[in-house]
Amino acid sequence: MEVFGYTAVAAQSKEMKITIERQPLEQIKADALIVPVLEGRKEERFGAAVLFDNGEVKGKPFELTLIHHPPGVAAARVLLAGGGKAAEFDAAQLRKLAGAAVRHLKSKSCKNLAFALESGWTSADHVSAAVEGAVLGRYEPDQYKTGNEKGNLESFRVVVGPEAAGVEEAVERGRILAEAQNFTRSLVNEPANRLTPSNIADKTRQMASEVGLQCEVLEQGQMKSLGMGALLGVAQGSAEPPALIVLRYRPERAEGTAHLGLVGKGVTFDTGGISIKPADGMEKMKYDMAGGAAMLGAMRALAQLKPAIPVSAFVPCVENMPGSRAQRPGDIVTTMSGKTVEVINTDAEGRLILADAITYARRQGCTHLVDAATLTGAIVVALGHMRVGLFANQDAMRDRVLAAANAEGERMWPMPLDADYKEYLKSAFADLSNVGGRWGGAITAAWFLKEFAEDTPWVHLDIAGTAWLDDAKPFLAKGATGLPLRTMVRLATEWKD
Ligand code: BES
Ligand code: ZN
Ligand code: ZN
Repeated sequence: MEVFGYTAVAAQSKEMKITIERQPLEQIKADALIVPVLEGRKEERFGAAVLFDNGEVKGKPFELTLIHHPPGVAAARVLLAGGGKAAEFDAAQLRKLAGAAVRHLKSKSCKNLAFALESGWTSADHVSAAVEGAVLGRYEPDQYKTGNEKGNLESFRVVVGPEAAGVEEAVERGRILAEAQNFTRSLVNEPANRLTPSNIADKTRQMASEVGLQCEVLEQGQMKSLGMGALLGVAQGSAEPPALIVLRYRPERAEGTAHLGLVGKGVTFDTGGISIKPADGMEKMKYDMAGGAAMLGAMRALAQLKPAIPVSAFVPCVENMPGSRAQRPGDIVTTMSGKTVEVINTDAEGRLILADAITYARRQGCTHLVDAATLTGAIVVALGHMRVGLFANQDAMRDRVLAAANAEGERMWPMPLDADYKEYLKSAFADLSNVGGRWGGAITAAWFLKEFAEDTPWVHLDIAGTAWLDDAKPFLAKGATGLPLRTMVRLATEWKD
């Protein structure tokens, strides 16, 4: 059903018009023509030679130079957009450059843009990346700012040479990916009073019907019958009921026997529960559902890109609150798997809800699993805000995810899961403790999840450091990043059994 992808998406977001342009550069009419310039490669056109000669323009990353009334071209402005060293200028760099250029021009009230890719960067990945950068750069989390009717970019044309082939498909893929990523970002940026577990479920149902995904939402009663004691234990402190969102994508003809399961943490707000967090910075805990939102966004894109592998998403949504009904430190819960857990710290809630979601995903027939979660502060200590922490119980599955991540420019780093780390999770009273003490916190959290993945090939992505930007980047607004959505989409679309 072709209507899903196209019309629904365009209508949903008052999107900018994205088209392909094969006219010679000089003839293109636009508010601004964006031209990438690289270090050590002098740009002779648009009167730029003199700027290179006098050192005003060097081509450094994100160096942006606006030329008004450039000679010899129809565009009102040319933006020389520095891409850094030629040898390092790949699709990931191009994505960022397109984002930075768009954000700069947006702030100058330019509405109709063209991006010059004609001189060499016309592979499908490059074209997609340029479109992604533009759509991602255009997004601003300003929907609750009143009196802000400035308008936004209206059109973005990708200029390619006459020989470029397959460009239409690449543009479409880029648009689908980036719009899905913006869908994820807007969910994550929503404050917790406007995005409860039930609200996520409603928005997901709406999205699913737009793009043609099956959507099922398990409610509290069903969780009880399924024995999801860990998920229910976290939920019981909040007046907001929990929801386990299940999305199913099924290809018309599957090529192999694999069934990919995407599990995402959906804590709409993490106060810490009775083990309450300090006030400073607690407002950011609205992004504790970023893993779940990324999986929902990935499904949205997959419904339109239609890979040959069945993919299901499982997003347990809860609010972690203190209250007279909240679970207490020392409580023992029985998970759906049958394993018992002593809840030493109610702030280690993500692993509890994921444990039951992972068991449920396995029982639903998933043969391979990836989970994404803002799981630990410890991963931020280990890797900072640059790389996602990646844990796996199987080398082949680890390598699949790493390859997809590298292709998408979503940086990850493999972390260890040696057998003896499990000792940290010992409990005197139950099968497992939900915390492992002070050291190796990201690893013990991953180990806890591994206990529930059992023998299913599984990768865990700790995105606590990478799902949120405390300050805007030249190419991306402050707030949610949408990671690791693109990696999940590539993993599924390039899956080979
Ligand atoms: N949601 C937090 C992890 C987190 C921290 C996400 C910082 C984003 C930024 C998680 O639920 C949590 O509180 N983890 C605890 C675990 C501890 C109690 C073992 C942590 O990391 O401190
Ligand atoms: Zn927590
Ligand atoms: Zn949390």
